[in-house]
Formats: sequence, structure tokens, C-alpha cells
Amino acid sequence: MHADSIPKSSRHCLILAAGKSTRFKSDLPKVLHELCGKTVIEHVLDKLSTLCLEQTIVVVGHAASQVRQALTGLPLQFVEQREQLGTGHAVITAAERLKNLQGSLLILYGDAPLIRTSSLERLMERREAEDADLALLTAELEDPFGYGRVLTNAEGQVTAIIEEKEASAEQKRISRVNSGSYCFKISALLQALPYLSNQNRTGEYYLTDLIAILNREGGKVIAVSIESAQEAIGINDRIQLAKAATRLRAETNEHWQKEGVTLLDPATTYIDVTVAIGRDTVIYPGVILEKNCRIGSNCRIGAYCHLVEATIEENTQVDHCSVIRDSTVGAATQVGPFAHIRQGSAISDSARIGNFVEVKNSRVGKGSKAAHLAYLGDAEVGNRVNIGAGVITCNYDGFEKHKTIIEDGAFVGSDCQLLAPVTVRKEAYVAAGSTITDEVPARALAIARCRQTNKADWAAKKKK
Ligand code: UD1
Ligand code: CA
Repeated sequence: MHADSIPKSSRHCLILAAGKSTRFKSDLPKVLHELCGKTVIEHVLDKLSTLCLEQTIVVVGHAASQVRQALTGLPLQFVEQREQLGTGHAVITAAERLKNLQGSLLILYGDAPLIRTSSLERLMERREAEDADLALLTAELEDPFGYGRVLTNAEGQVTAIIEEKEASAEQKRISRVNSGSYCFKISALLQALPYLSNQNRTGEYYLTDLIAILNREGGKVIAVSIESAQEAIGINDRIQLAKAATRLRAETNEHWQKEGVTLLDPATTYIDVTVAIGRDTVIYPGVILEKNCRIGSNCRIGAYCHLVEATIEENTQVDHCSVIRDSTVGAATQVGPFAHIRQGSAISDSARIGNFVEVKNSRVGKGSKAAHLAYLGDAEVGNRVNIGAGVITCNYDGFEKHKTIIEDGAFVGSDCQLLAPVTVRKEAYVAAGSTITDEVPARALAIARCRQTNKADWAAKKKK
């Protein structure tokens, strides 16, 4: 069939993710380890969206149900490889599903997350344009250890891939490696699969043996070089996981710099790929932004702040060493230094959450301030409220959590305890040092502490 007559819709994809992840020494399969905010396999799947694939089949095996569950909701099909007898065996397991398909099959490994869509696009286009039986992506690596080496003939054509474990000392010096991305003509793949054998040092079925098999059977194999060698990184252990993360972080940081975000020290800035940041925001050294953080424009995130699933509106300043998790902070607000905003909190615009203030599952209204040393737990704080230094909402009675409501314009003096459930009504005052157990009516002053008595000359008498 001529390449032009193959519709693009006859593109399919197979992802191998059944391996045992032995080198990871983990209870979690390696494809589910996190890399800058997404699992390793999600990074691979992300690269596919623009490739016009008709379907994507994932081969699962080791911890199959865990992998399937992690990918629920995505338009994927699954095939189970019960025994993990090698990458070639994984494809044999899926062969039944491929039987009635035509066109191109992209085969990828679930542990190679840095591969770029543009490389995959090029790989598929080259195979289709040249009507090859197989196009494979190769890379030049400074340290090719562990990768399959690409063997070529005098004309420079790829003749075989030899795995590290099977390679001679001379072959190990070859720096051109198999990146692990293949585009097969499906009919050629199905014809070649029965020739795979496990007669080698490890007793595994190597998918890479198909290169020599296709060549031997008169098939057409072409190699496409990868744009940047880093794309080829396969994640087999935690050292490679960290290397891939370093690489991905650098790319992410550069992306945000190009979008108008100032990073004072990109080398110590950790931004997950799932984060979004507005322009003219300045990020100080040591900042970690995880999961779906949304940072508005013109914000300042001070040194060593750690934000997870936090939304920060524009013009807000989060100072030094503050931690914000699963919460939102409005515009023109000031947080920290050393503030801790915990799950389910919403801080409104122009508010202030100062040093050593902890907020949990609470709402703080517009223009309200808790500037120093306070704990607001399960509290509903209105607008323009002042929370003095050392105020504590006593939300827990040892069994249950209770709510504290502080209405608009109220003023809670320093070092008060508010025993929840309790309400301080509009514009009421609570005198410093009070322990509030009952509702404070609107505009009233509540004083709940002993009166001071001064014992004259007490100290002098004690000395005698
Ligand atoms: C593989 C290639 C190697 C290439 C490298 C690129 C083979 C034999 N070798 O080596 O040439 O340079 O990737 O990163 O293919 N898997 C299964 N079922 C199995 C075994 C593995 O699904 O029975 C999956 C794994 O989950 C993994 C992928 O296949 O996602 C690759 O397997 P892995 O063991 O990591 O292969 P490498 O040794 O890295
Ligand atoms: Ca690998």
C-alpha cells in the first residue's frame, strides 16, 4: 500500500508497563512513581494526545490492578501480561488485540517519560512516508550503559540491536542506543513476532530482536535520530528518576521564565509540570510548588515556601518559609513569614496572615488580619476582622471539631481563647486575655477574665 493511501486514523499505540521494576526496590511499580507532579506513565500518555491515535493499549502485569486504577478515566485499553517474560513477550501478549488492525503501531515503554511528541510525530511520519516495516528512534548517549546498542552495516543501515547483557566488550563501546520508541507496520510486526525466542543469557523475549529478524526476512528497518539525547532516558531506578526530574525541572523553569516569571535561583526552584504561574511573579530561592498550584500575576513567593494545591490570586505576597496546602489565597494579600495555611482554607483579598499563624479549614474574609501567633481552625471569619496576637480557636473537644464564627468588623484582642462552638457577632470586641465560651452580641464588649489585684509591697516582703 502506498503511504498516501494509509489514513492517519490507522495509527495505534501500545505502551509496555508490565515490568517488575526490580531495580526500583519499591512496593509501587516504577511507572507509578511521581516525577514533577505526574506519574512516570502519565508523562508518556501526555505525549500522545496530538498524534491522531485511534486507540492506546497498555500492557500491565506486575501490580496490574494498581496501574489500571491509577489510569482510570483515561481512554485506554488494557492487556494483562501475567508472567513478565520480557518486552517481546509483552507485545506477543497484546498480539491478539492487534490482529485485525492495519496501519502504524507506535510501541513505547511506560518508563521513558521525557520523550517528546515532536520526535514521535517524526518517527511515525518517516515510517509512513517510506512505508517501512519498522522505524525506530535512536540516540547518542555519552554513557550508553544499560541501553540496547544499535548495530549498523557498512552502509550505515541498522542491522540489529544488542542488549547490554548480551553485548561484547567491543559492542558496549557503541554510543548509539535504542531509545525504546518504535513505529511498526502492524502486518510486518505480526509476521515477525513468532520468530522471537528467549534463547539468550537472561531467558527473556527481547522486543529488540525484531530488528535483526525483520532484516533477515527482507523487511525494511529505518532509524530516526532523536532531537535531544535526554529524551531517551529510561527510568529503571531512583537515580535515573532523579536525573529525569532534574532535566524536567530545568525545562519547566525555562518555560515559566519565557512566560515572564522571575526565578531568582532556577537551580533550587521546584515547580511541578501541573503548576501555572502568572507574569511578573517573582519566585525566591528554594521554593517548591506542587500539584495544581495556580499562582496569579505579580505575586512574590518568598524563599523556602512550600505550596501544594494552592491558588494564590494576583499581587499577593507569600513570605519566607510559609506552607500552604489545598487552600486559596485572594489578591493583594500578605502571608507569612512562617505561616501555615492548611487544607480547606480560603483567605480573601487584602487579608493578612502573619508570622506563626496556622489556619486550617477556615474562611478569612476581606481585609481581615491575623498578624501574629494565632490558630484559626474550623473558623468562619468575616470581613475586616482583627485577630490579635496569640488568639486560639479551641475547635476540638477531644471527640469532635466545632466551629467558631467571627462576624464582620469584630475585634478579638490578644491571647484570647474562643471555645467552639461559639460566635462573636458583628463589630463586637473581645477583651485581651479572655476565654470566650458564650456568644458575644453585636457591638458588645466581652471580658472573660479575672480582675487584676495588686498586692502592695509583696516582693519586698518575700525577700525578707
Ligand atoms: C529496554 C530495551 C533497550 C532500550 C531501553 C530504553 C528491550 C529488551 N530492551 O531495556 O534496548 O535501550 O529499554 O529505555 O526491550 N516490560 C513489560 N513486560 C516485561 C518486561 C518489561 O511490560 O515482561 C515493560 C516495563 O514495564 C518497561 C518497559 O517494558 O516499562 C521496558 O522494560 P525494561 O525492563 O525497563 O527494559 P530496559 O532494560 O530498560
Ligand atoms: Ca527501562
